Amino acid sequence: MVSLSNHLSPAVPSPHALTQDELKTLVGQAALDYVVRGQWVGVGTGSTVNKFIDALGSIRHEIAGAVSSSVASTERLRALGIEVRDANTIERLAVYIDGADEIDGKGYMVKGGGAALTREKIVAAQSDRFVCIADASKRVSVLGKFPLPVEVIPMASARITRQFAAMGGRAAVRMAGDKPLVTDNGQLLIDVQGLSISDPLAFEAEVSQWPGVLTVGVFAFQRAHICLLATDAGVQTLRFD
Ligand code: 5RP
Repeated sequence: MVSLSNHLSPAVPSPHALTQDELKTLVGQAALDYVVRGQWVGVGTGSTVNKFIDALGSIRHEIAGAVSSSVASTERLRALGIEVRDANTIERLAVYIDGADEIDGKGYMVKGGGAALTREKIVAAQSDRFVCIADASKRVSVLGKFPLPVEVIPMASARITRQFAAMGGRAAVRMAGDKPLVTDNGQLLIDVQGLSISDPLAFEAEVSQWPGVLTVGVFAFQRAHICLLATDAGVQTLRFD
């Protein structure tokens, strides 16, 4: 069940239309309240997380450091003087903070728009609490409008594309210019349009066991426990646990 609380940020004296960038800054700053001082923090990837990383720089002496979900986030964290450790060196993280492409009323998400879904799922799995930071446009009732990212082993991409077609989806390999995009893990991404994911747990369980699928961008088993949702009126806190 989802519970909701609302607070107006002191940085926003009266509700007015905020830009996407301002909304991301607002929620990135709000996420600092969930960082456990003295500990290692799990850090996601994306433009909203970049705002969180910038805010984290202001409290870098109050945390042990970070476990990062991508090369891009690692570089940004280190540029701010925040130590980044390999995920294997830290058993449990108190909190993982990351964005989402979609989030539903149970905290289930679609992620991977920034191509970092595999490492994001790994760091989320070793964290006690997932705090999702997003703007209100990411809130949906049913997952699937955003093209679903799936990281795949290259030799399986054509067969996986056919398997999604049999489900009613249209899959295409993600490109970077005129070449296929290669992930931090040296693999390919496919994006699948036309799905309506009404049972995210069952969907994630099924697609995850298709040969050649490295990670499916449905985060149901690693759902969010809390979502900080940036709106023109301030940051809404949705609790799913
Ligand atoms: C990266 C992700 C991101 O969290 C997701 O794409 C949201 O990104 P943004 O904050 O830029 O909208 O899953 O793989």
